[in-house]
Amino acid sequence: MSNETKPAVEMRGITKRFGEVLANDCINLAIPAASIHAIIGENGAGKSTIMNILYGFYSADEGEIFVDGDQRSINSPREAIALGLGMVHQHFMLVETLTVTENIILGAEPTTGIAIDYKKARARVREISEQYGLKINPDARIADLSVGQQQRVEILKTLYRGARLLILDEPTAVLTPQEVHEMFAILRGLKAQGKTIIIITHKLAEVLALSDHITVMRDGKVVGQLATPDATAEKLASLMVGREVLLRVEKAPAQPAATTLEVKDLALTDKQGHAALSAVSLVVRSGEILGIAGVEGNGQTELIEILAGLRAPSAGEVLLQEKNINKLDARQRKQLGVAHIPEDRHRRGLLLPFDLASNSILGVHRNAPISGAILLNQKFIAERANRLVQEYDVRPPNIALAAKSLSGGNQQKLIVAREMDIKPNLILVSQPTRGVDIGAIEFIHKKIIEYRDNGAAVLLVSAELDEILSLSDRVIVMYDGRIVGEVDPKTVTEEAIGLMMTGGK
Ligand SMILES: Nc1ncnc2c1ncn2[C@@H]1O[C@H](COP(=O)(O)OP(=O)(O)OP(=O)(O)O)[C@@H](O)[C@H]1O
Ligand SMILES: [Mg+2]
Repeated sequence: MSNETKPAVEMRGITKRFGEVLANDCINLAIPAASIHAIIGENGAGKSTIMNILYGFYSADEGEIFVDGDQRSINSPREAIALGLGMVHQHFMLVETLTVTENIILGAEPTTGIAIDYKKARARVREISEQYGLKINPDARIADLSVGQQQRVEILKTLYRGARLLILDEPTAVLTPQEVHEMFAILRGLKAQGKTIIIITHKLAEVLALSDHITVMRDGKVVGQLATPDATAEKLASLMVGREVLLRVEKAPAQPAATTLEVKDLALTDKQGHAALSAVSLVVRSGEILGIAGVEGNGQTELIEILAGLRAPSAGEVLLQEKNINKLDARQRKQLGVAHIPEDRHRRGLLLPFDLASNSILGVHRNAPISGAILLNQKFIAERANRLVQEYDVRPPNIALAAKSLSGGNQQKLIVAREMDIKPNLILVSQPTRGVDIGAIEFIHKKIIEYRDNGAAVLLVSAELDEILSLSDRVIVMYDGRIVGEVDPKTVTEEAIGLMMTGGK
């Protein structure tokens, strides 16, 4: 094999079990140097596991790893870093109170004598960020950076440690469309300078736009490897899921009826006097989906949390079926049929150490018949949990497992199942399909439409413009805590709505 074609990394026959679960089943993977390689597959297919093995987080039960042609055993991230590998996780691991430079040198400090040579490190950070077009101020505090910038810091950190191969696990799930464009430019630049990139993502359009080669995984196995020019979204979708997938939302026109939710002049001012929400008024009728478009951080989260009863507004009124519910807490609202699918499934959605059965009753456990006279009705809970896990295709379908052992997308499916099962009048849903595979996106979209058609009012927040425009019957745009306009999702152009989202006219 000549030097040009020698893979940067090769994995042969990698197998990994977690108890009964065969997460990786004899995986073979060769990644050509200076290329961008996408790994795709359903939730739970084993994508994160195979990359965590490469990065030394997990050790494989069987198989071999070659880096630049030499067989290596990688027993910790430290050993992976020494071999020129770097990984950016979906959940960033930065210290908010420290600066960019301080974060980057944590654990890798160049020292002069005993003192850390901050100046030298800072200069090096600046040099790397210029070389790769990462545009980051080395002295900025992490807490003051946007999510997209924080991600660049994570990339810088791997480069600072000398990474020649970067692994990115769902890097765009948390980015705005603009940030995704910037990120792609950075990744292409890295490739042009000889870096090798492995990216895990559920977004087929990104895979097609960015990668050179694609590996498709299903049930722990590699089920397809192809060059990107030979791929189409349809082909990839059916390889991933093993059937045809509807890549477009199909729905009948809405039949809006009586007003379910009315919000009047809602305001929220934080302790520093900053207005997170100002004069927000809106109406959602039974039988319609109202989408809120906007760049994340423009008040959507606060609005949904107020409506769900998790936060009190500074001013304004919330009416559910004409009744003021301002004073009701989240549990009381749930009893009136308000479902909430939160954006942050770790903080608000699940108790990770608890089993799926317990998680399936969170927030509804005081409702009959789940709560018997004194004891929770275990038999009913187990039956219900089993039914939800089947109906929503949560994998593996074992209600005794801890929520933390589910893959990210399967955690999301469990939350959606639990919330939808209360037969809601009003569904508050934030980022319903973040991190979820295309089969599950299709399923969740169908469910939302089914509930709409049965008379639920749906308020949808999503960072995915596609999702907002295809699912919503009406769309309003939020910017800087205000509603800046309403658009027709059938006719509005991406440019027009994008301009509104960023504060243009
Ligand atoms: N630490 C763990 N303990 C037990 N089971 C695990 C653990 N990590 C992963 N698994 C299981 O291994 C399988 C593969 O999980 P993995 O996280 O690799 O999936 P994934 O392809 O990354 O999915 P997603 O797209 O949802 O992130 C799943 O069935 C998962 O439940
Ligand atoms: Mg994963």
